[in-house]
Amino acid sequence: MAYLPRVVLIGAHGHGRGHLERIARLHAARRLRLAGVADPQPLDPGQRALLGDAPFAPDAMTLLEAVEPDLVVLVTPVHTHVDLAEAAMRAGAHLLLEKPPAPTLAGLERLLRAQRETGRVVQVGFQAFGSGAVAELRRRIDRGDLGEIRAIGGTGLWWRPAEYWARSGWAGRRELGGAVVNDGALTNPFAHAVALAVTLDGSGGDQSVRRVELDTYRTRAAEAHDTASARIVTARGTTATVAVTLCAEEESEPVITVHGTRGSAVLPYTQEGPDTDLLENLLAHLADPAVRLLVPLAETRGFTEVAEAVRHSPAPVPVAQRDLTGLPELTRRAAGSGLLYGETGAAWATAKPFDWTPEDTA
Ligand SMILES: NC(=O)c1ccc[n+]([C@@H]2O[C@H](COP(=O)([O-])OP(=O)(O)OC[C@H]3O[C@@H](n4cnc5c(N)ncnc54)[C@H](O)[C@@H]3O)[C@@H](O)[C@H]2O)c1
Repeated sequence: MAYLPRVVLIGAHGHGRGHLERIARLHAARRLRLAGVADPQPLDPGQRALLGDAPFAPDAMTLLEAVEPDLVVLVTPVHTHVDLAEAAMRAGAHLLLEKPPAPTLAGLERLLRAQRETGRVVQVGFQAFGSGAVAELRRRIDRGDLGEIRAIGGTGLWWRPAEYWARSGWAGRRELGGAVVNDGALTNPFAHAVALAVTLDGSGGDQSVRRVELDTYRTRAAEAHDTASARIVTARGTTATVAVTLCAEEESEPVITVHGTRGSAVLPYTQEGPDTDLLENLLAHLADPAVRLLVPLAETRGFTEVAEAVRHSPAPVPVAQRDLTGLPELTRRAAGSGLLYGETGAAWATAKPFDWTPEDTA
């Protein structure tokens, strides 16, 4: 009988629900064996039906010890990632770890150390990196179709309702019970945009960014920023400016624009659909290491440095929703011209820019 990797899901509600459905589909297709689910909250009848005969445990550590899975899909609150991911690796499992991999650079370093010591493979859930459109844009950039890359801009204009902020204790928090959470527009919902922005010029995600400047604002989140801009100098020296908000009454999907000396390219990354599923890519890589892993843990360093800068920045400046006028135009102008919100002249954008380099944390 063919070898089927035994897969455990940790974190089954929220975003984990979609993972459970995908794992159950792959189980039915005999690509893996669903070997258990852990979550402190009980499963609902639909989730229990997907789980079938496999065990459920409220405590992830108990399940890891009992099952010793080959692979863990980890979809828990950000501040629990490092402890649980390290425990999963030390229990012998490879990982699909949801993004952001860790709330701090020290957390990422700890995971990389555990990975070196255990020899496990870790894929991070930046699913935009599975998109054929991203691969095609990279090919065009590598071929020189855009000339020399001069600047990258990223915009994101979403609205998150009260239920989003109320769904969990960690939502919209910088810290919780002494743990760094580092939730926020740049570090969580638009993390994909940041991760793309720091790598599309050909910088490796495992290389350090050179500098991060940012300003952050808070309107609806409990404590963290929900509107922010960041100007990042990538490892190769390109300026990438990302301006994002979760308070846009008029929403539009995020867009990354790459400007080169011979032309520009526009990537609406959420609308391109992931062509390669990250779990399937991980399974394929484990079966045949010649298959390239799409988002190795080590290649999330550049992104995590931006998160580290956010973590060290001062508390976001409070802004009333009614004062957030002209957001779509300001956001596009900031990203298009390399300006922070505070440099656009917007009356509400009064935060002093925070400046960070990797040496500040080293
Ligand atoms: N890739 C994406 O586009 C994407 C989208 C949304 C969320 N996410 C990521 O998924 C993760 C979860 O986010 P969410 O919004 O679903 O969070 P959530 O708080 O809504 O749900 C987290 C789930 O984990 C469970 N949980 C908490 N502590 C646990 C523990 N110690 N062991 C097992 N389960 C535990 C909770 O009970 C809950 O079921 C985060 O890392 C988030 O950034 C990724």
